[in-house]
Amino acid sequence: MSDIISIIGVGYVGLPLAIKLSKYFKVYGYDANNERIDQLKKGIDIFKDQKISNKEKKKIKFTNNINELENSNIFIVTVPTPVKKNKNPDLSHLISASKTVGSVMKRNSIVIYESTVYPGCTEEVCVPVLEKYSKLKANFDFFYGYSPERINVGDKKHKIENIKKIVSSSNKYSMKKIFKVYNSIIRAGVYKAESIKVAEAAKVIENTQRDLNIALINELSIIFSKLGINTNEVLNAALTKWNFVKYEPGLVGGHCVGVDPYYLTYKSKKIGYNPKVILSGRKTNDQMSKHVYDLVNKYAKKNHIDKKRYKVLVLGYSFKENCSDIRNSKIEDLVNHFLKKKTYIRIHDPLVIITHLNEYHQKLFLEKSEINNLKDNFFDVLILAVPHKEILGKFKFFKKKIKKNSLIIDIKSALEKNKFSQITL
Ligand SMILES: NC(=O)c1ccc[n+]([C@@H]2O[C@H](COP(=O)([O-])OP(=O)(O)OC[C@H]3O[C@@H](n4cnc5c(N)ncnc54)[C@H](O)[C@@H]3O)[C@@H](O)[C@H]2O)c1
Repeated sequence: MSDIISIIGVGYVGLPLAIKLSKYFKVYGYDANNERIDQLKKGIDIFKDQKISNKEKKKIKFTNNINELENSNIFIVTVPTPVKKNKNPDLSHLISASKTVGSVMKRNSIVIYESTVYPGCTEEVCVPVLEKYSKLKANFDFFYGYSPERINVGDKKHKIENIKKIVSSSNKYSMKKIFKVYNSIIRAGVYKAESIKVAEAAKVIENTQRDLNIALINELSIIFSKLGINTNEVLNAALTKWNFVKYEPGLVGGHCVGVDPYYLTYKSKKIGYNPKVILSGRKTNDQMSKHVYDLVNKYAKKNHIDKKRYKVLVLGYSFKENCSDIRNSKIEDLVNHFLKKKTYIRIHDPLVIITHLNEYHQKLFLEKSEINNLKDNFFDVLILAVPHKEILGKFKFFKKKIKKNSLIIDIKSALEKNKFSQITL
């Protein structure tokens, strides 16, 4: 029998995977969000991260009907794994997806989880749900594996096929099959991890390491701004040493780097070890939006600009450049600091979809059509928060909207050095 694959959750991760696999297998793309399925059936991906050609549209059966999945023998789960308000893992999507799979899968099925989790989550949380809803026994009647996803939103260079894929499995039989499935689409190679826990841990530490490296540079940039030294200049000087590693200061948002470390620290606390370094880095990164706010106030005070009267223009709102994704964007926090003090503030981002913003921020949002009607010399402060190519291409235009000698904060150091008398973090 040839393999039939069902992807559970066709979002940022699930959709490109479904497209790639559909070249070699019969693929179903199941999503709990009916609106998403209706759009995908029409070939629309609202995140604009993935183009769906007519040929691909025909090859994948997008559905919100779980009964259509019952002939599948391989299930790949790519649902979100966010954190709750208290920063503990929110496993609700993973559990409900496991219930769905458990209720349709047959004997000899293989279930592969791709969602980012903590070490142990697949076997301790998901597999028992599969067993309960299928009434089948793991490793006797069905098999499972874990293969973390490493794609990078908005990154046109690192695509599924050229990122090495880690796979892990519950036994040798399913490892062979899981390896074969991914090996058919990944050109960069497939790495067999020693166990499911190893594969889960590898993914979570990739983002934890990045988070901590940025946290160190963020802390340095706070110290340097108090010392009146330009962080970029220091970094450039330090980078002349062969083993100094390049990281830049910035706001760490999104649903991966700023979230995954909490999965690891949650598990660590559960087993009795309270992690200090990882959580300290998280705290440092989370306070960077306040640091930017403080920089603006310091400038206003120095230049005798009335804090209550100044007008701020924020350019960019998504969690990183050249993508429309605003999940856990720290620009939201930054804007809130100003709103709390009733500062006049407007936001513009040519990539984000306005209805994705909360209702307060929607009111502050300048659509493309409104931008052209903005008066020149109007704003006192411009914060270049997310330097999308589209924003940088029009930067001279935006510059005209602020008063002469106004403050420009270039959070990601995207502007040519000293060209606009900008300050960087
Ligand atoms: N986006 C990335 O760049 C990226 C990179 C690496 C890893 N990851 C990880 O991959 C996982 C998926 O992330 P994403 O960005 O694709 O999320 P997403 O929100 O873009 O997509 C998830 C999809 O799953 C659907 N869904 C939620 N619950 C469901 C359920 N019970 N049954 C069926 N469908 C359900 C949602 O409607 C959504 O369309 C997460 O664990 C994330 O941390 C994401």
